[in-house]
Amino acid sequence: MRLNAYLARAGVASRRGADELIKAGRVTVNGELGQLNTFVDGAARVEVDGRAVAPQTLAYVLLHKPAGVVTTARDPQGRPTVVDLVDHASRVVPVGRLDADTTGALLLTNDGELAHRLAHPRYGVEKTYEADVEGEPSDEAIRALAEGIDLDDGPTAPAKAGRLGPSRVELVLHEGRKHQVKRMLAAVGHPVVQLHRSRYGGLTLDGLGPGESRELTGPEVDSLRRLVF
Ligand code: URA
Repeated sequence: MRLNAYLARAGVASRRGADELIKAGRVTVNGELGQLNTFVDGAARVEVDGRAVAPQTLAYVLLHKPAGVVTTARDPQGRPTVVDLVDHASRVVPVGRLDADTTGALLLTNDGELAHRLAHPRYGVEKTYEADVEGEPSDEAIRALAEGIDLDDGPTAPAKAGRLGPSRVELVLHEGRKHQVKRMLAAVGHPVVQLHRSRYGGLTLDGLGPGESRELTGPEVDSLRRLVF
């Protein structure tokens, strides 16, 4: 694997942070200065500032994200992050984002390749959202959500949309644009009051309370991989 991926897997830094360490000449591979295009295998001796580092095993964690927690590794405003919550021995990072006030299913992993693919629009991983909204959306509004909404960054793709209650909407999306659900619902005149993601790529929150997380099972990891490889 590439040296920056190896360092990320070792929990030293993000891939971008690893590139900076490599450029700064702080990384050696088998005694030679590492380069941005250096590839390493399991037998390599990799050192950062003269200290040996080793990749961690791959970890996949599903978190029931509570409200008020940010989906970044560090928050400039000092709010708690999903990474603080998960507190895993490996340096797992979130796949995609949920807004701070959004609750629900969030995957964290140190498997950079899988994370990259799951978040990539090309693979259209399915995400199910439940939104409590202002007012009571009409059949027409639900149809518009399903057919596509003209947002300022382009029309949304066809989606599944339905009503779970008079002011409660379920949306199944294969896209993941910034604030997409809130923008779609605002566009049909029903701003979101509370947003929850109930499913991500087939994973549900069964048995997980807000703030709780668990490791994925082997078959769950396999089925995520099948979605994008
Ligand atoms: N859409 C939103 O508007 N917010 C989220 O957190 C996720 C999807």
